[in-house]
Amino acid sequence: MVVITPTTAELLSAAKACRVRNLYTPYGLPASCADSPMDEPLARPDVVHRCILAPERETEAPLVVATGRLDLGLGGEGYPGESVAQLRYFAVDADRRGLGLGRDLLDAFEREARARGLTRIWMEARTEVKEFYLRCGYADLGLGPNKWGVFPHRIMDKRLA
Ligand SMILES: CC(C)(COP(=O)(O)OP(=O)(O)OC[C@H]1O[C@@H](n2cnc3c(N)ncnc32)[C@H](O)[C@@H]1OP(=O)(O)O)[C@@H](O)C(=O)NCCC(=O)NCCS
Repeated sequence: MVVITPTTAELLSAAKACRVRNLYTPYGLPASCADSPMDEPLARPDVVHRCILAPERETEAPLVVATGRLDLGLGGEGYPGESVAQLRYFAVDADRRGLGLGRDLLDAFEREARARGLTRIWMEARTEVKEFYLRCGYADLGLGPNKWGVFPHRIMDKRLA
């Protein structure tokens, strides 16, 4: 699956729509939950966006079917001497799950992180999908926050070889 960088406002908007319909709408949460000041401006040195487009929609308005964001330099205080990044807003459309898109997208983030000299990726993973991250080589470090009063999280991380 081809992983791309959303480089236009239209693509970022499609990526945010993917966030909303997978991470918030199914739980009755408003679209504003997906808003983040770190999405502006689109190109900034401390943020890496990646997404996968629906291949069948090449000639129409873009439909992002998998999305995520890597925030560089966050959480470093927990890893002295390391250069770390936090994975956020990671989601695959419900009708495309189980096809390897999540793994492909995560691999792309890991490649980019390695290329930037980072040593570790961590995240607050929703407990219900913890198994996905375990399958992708992440370790479960323990209980994380309970966000929006809905989602229990696990703190997970992976040392980048
Ligand atoms: C979690 C999520 C990103 C996984 O994406 P996906 O494209 O379905 O995952 P993949 O098809 O690449 O699966 C990779 C591996 O993880 C396993 N896996 C994926 N989701 C799983 C789940 N919910 N439970 C157990 N195993 C899972 C797959 O079976 C596959 O295993 P393999 O090693 O045998 O190949 C997707 O289910 C999702 O977006 N969920 C809703 C939003 C969400 O919770 N996002 C994460 C927020 S922290």
